[in-house]
Amino acid sequence: MKAIELNIEKALYFAEGKFNDNKDAAVEALTKVEEGTGAGNDFLGWVNLPSETPAELLDRINATAKRLQDNCDYVVCVGIGGSYLGAKAVNTALADNFEYYYAPNPGEPKVLYAGQNISEDYTAELEKLLDGKRFGIIVISKSGTTTEPAIAFRILKEKLEKQAGKTAAKDLIVAITDASKGALRTLADQEGYETYVIPDNVGGRFSVLTPVGLLPIAVAGHDIKKLVAGAVEMENSTKHSGDGNIAETYARMRNALYADGKKIEILVNFEPKLHYFNEWWKQLYGESEGKDHKGIFPAAVDFTTDLHSMGQWIQEGERTIFETVISVAKPAVERRVPSDEANLDGLNYMAGKRIDEVNKMAELGTQMAHVDGGVPNMRIVLDSLNEHTLGALIYFFEKACGISGYMLGVNPFNQPGVEAYKKNMFKLLKKPGY
Ligand code: PA5
Repeated sequence: MKAIELNIEKALYFAEGKFNDNKDAAVEALTKVEEGTGAGNDFLGWVNLPSETPAELLDRINATAKRLQDNCDYVVCVGIGGSYLGAKAVNTALADNFEYYYAPNPGEPKVLYAGQNISEDYTAELEKLLDGKRFGIIVISKSGTTTEPAIAFRILKEKLEKQAGKTAAKDLIVAITDASKGALRTLADQEGYETYVIPDNVGGRFSVLTPVGLLPIAVAGHDIKKLVAGAVEMENSTKHSGDGNIAETYARMRNALYADGKKIEILVNFEPKLHYFNEWWKQLYGESEGKDHKGIFPAAVDFTTDLHSMGQWIQEGERTIFETVISVAKPAVERRVPSDEANLDGLNYMAGKRIDEVNKMAELGTQMAHVDGGVPNMRIVLDSLNEHTLGALIYFFEKACGISGYMLGVNPFNQPGVEAYKKNMFKLLKKPGY
């Protein structure tokens, strides 16, 4: 099978007319993305990024990752929004579910995350964990001025300098920021940190395949060359309009459903490791489409866990939702339900079956129930969870997001609304100038 397949059959049934009608709009939107003729076209650097990523950049990132791996037991990735969600999504998807319960092995540091909240407890507890430990910092901010990561970095930098000494700390800090602007660039140049540049024409939420995502992913021990290769494959197969372009198909289907009154899309997984992939996706679609009082609200659930909390709403609540399921065809290992002589729990009817078979039947049963209950359902099937399929999935969602946003009639590449809370917060904090 291909790295990724998309099945829209169980959604088409609900809005086939509108899907057939939006073909031309999709072609126009795809052209805007590919040829840079739409609003926000100065932020299209992600479109050909995978195929244009130089091998030397990936080698350099791997060398930096090796330095951090060799010298750290913990590497704290400091960033917020697009400056951390992609790395966390991939690292969580590829890690052992219980990785954080194991002590770090030499050369295999744990990647931690900070700067995505302003919680005093989170900060203090992180400091406590890092007390006396060998740690490093990857600080990521495109603007270089975002409050949350700036506070976290100020604290962690001071701690690292105290613990390791200022000279050693310099080699344990890597900054990823703008080529020339912003406070982080000034600081990094002044302190002599190794730096990577976030390209001007790539917005935060589209930046996971730049050093923003690639360095923390490499530090976690994953193969960034395979990740980029997966993305290149998807880049090549989504350049032109047609049935083979699954990004275009997904964008068309969700816009047809939206036009039919389905205002909320729920991204569903049946693998807990994909929880943060959902979070990354929520940012990508929420910030790209939610503007001008328009846009599908991106929600997410982890099944079967949330079938026991949100299941009732999805089955019988207001019929304004549709689902997109990410299904992983093959788990990494094989485990079966054991037989039990007493059979007090009545489970012997499934004894000997793989746990994944039970999961897949839950998936199928849920799809049937939700479709019967009036919830259109799309399915994205990944062959297995690995760097290649995740690279393809990331690019698939990015491309579909660009097409979908243009079909909706918004500029998918700005986020003016994000500033509103900041202005109020700065005023309340009496920041000079506010
Ligand atoms: O997608 C976006 O543009 C935002 O979510 C940013 O990534 C986020 O606000 C962090 O910004 P910065 O990297 O400038 O610190």
